[in-house]
Amino acid sequence: MKNIGMPRAQWASRLGFILAAAGSAVGLGNIWKFPYITGNNGGGAFVLVYLGCIAIVGLPIMMAELMIGRHTQRDAVGAFVQLEGKRSFWLSAGWVSVIAAFIICSYYSVVAGWTLDYVYRALIGSFSGEPAEAIESMFGTLIADGPRQLIWQAIFLLLCLGIVIGGVQKGIERWSKILMPILFLLLGLLFINGMLSKGAWEGFAFMFRPDFSKLSAGSVLEALGHSFFTLSLGMAAMITYGSYLNKTEDLLAASLRVVILDTLIALMAGLAIFSVVFSVGMEPAAGPGLVFKTIPVVFSQIPGGALLAIVFFLLLAFAALTSNISLLEAQVAYFIDERGWSRKKATVFLAGLAFVVGIPTALSYNTLADWEVIGERNFFDSADLIASNYLLPIAGLLIALYVGWFWSGSKEKEELVAGGSGWVYPTWHFLIRYVSPLAVAVVLYFKAKESGL
Ligand code: PHE
Ligand code: NA
Repeated sequence: MKNIGMPRAQWASRLGFILAAAGSAVGLGNIWKFPYITGNNGGGAFVLVYLGCIAIVGLPIMMAELMIGRHTQRDAVGAFVQLEGKRSFWLSAGWVSVIAAFIICSYYSVVAGWTLDYVYRALIGSFSGEPAEAIESMFGTLIADGPRQLIWQAIFLLLCLGIVIGGVQKGIERWSKILMPILFLLLGLLFINGMLSKGAWEGFAFMFRPDFSKLSAGSVLEALGHSFFTLSLGMAAMITYGSYLNKTEDLLAASLRVVILDTLIALMAGLAIFSVVFSVGMEPAAGPGLVFKTIPVVFSQIPGGALLAIVFFLLLAFAALTSNISLLEAQVAYFIDERGWSRKKATVFLAGLAFVVGIPTALSYNTLADWEVIGERNFFDSADLIASNYLLPIAGLLIALYVGWFWSGSKEKEELVAGGSGWVYPTWHFLIRYVSPLAVAVVLYFKAKESGL
């Protein structure tokens, strides 16, 4: 059954779209990655660089993706078919994005499964009264346990499936309107707790005091790369969400809201985390150790910590859930729009596929630990390397080049200025034509060099 002739799905409200898009953007990248890369790269100095990257690269590319989606009202591949025909080179931009969505969806759901495992442990009080070493060793025990990770991964994907199968309005929009306010509330609680703790000042200093000696060329690359991941760019999510947006929406205003929410939440998460970590005199670890080892230890040592641990891991799980549904939707939209599948069939198939491809990820620290896929990297790290270091920037570069140089006529102009003011278009056009492609090309070059490929 082709879907031709059926009215295309649309967001029911502007707020619904903003919350869904912010749901996609706000993920593990904000709560776990942003805080520690900020700490490692000189605090305030890095925050400034990061804000610059968001403004001159992230925001223009987000507007370009939303614009492509809204203009064509198609999935990420179909959008380019519609614009340039079936044989165009630019279809590659769509394909790379959808494949990135597929790969990230598979390993993101494994990590999301870890957060569910920790919600469960926090609920049954596993961290209370335990010595620090015992708590820290729980993470090793979890990733050494393949079946346990697979069960949580399956549960997580079932939750995503349950939401995406409901469709744009009754699934994604409805659940975003429920989950995002809860997410803000949970983060608000953690933030207040952090600000009231005696580590608050140190937390502020760690995040904001500029230490230019720690800022290197590598920090700039890190900031650029992260601005992509954090805004869900280059992975078909924003093209797809844009395709459900109505034609009268002001794209600059909509993108700005999403970008500001994403940035605000990253900053608040950093302050909330580092304040409590310093309040018990611990050093912030980098990587997964920060949220899965340090944080549970910290909460086991402060009053009210048993409850705060539940709040923290729920926050992570919700953030991961709203991000992952956007990845699933980006792929589902392709099968609905281009292959004429029903939403139900596409969702079940793709969630199942994400599970199967996620299996080697879940086994990356146990059964398959010795399998070196790319260089010395296990399956998990290899999948992340391919997606984050290559596919996202390649898709972003193609999109910026296409929209900046090859999308003919004044179509994009009409789309952009609906409701916007006079300076918006020229500024955006300059950025998307020159600044964004150049910046992304530089990231791509150095990431490739760094990873030895
Ligand atoms: N923007 C998400 C984050 O910051 C990244 C992401 C989005 C990952 C969508 C997967 C799916 O974590
Ligand atoms: Na993000």
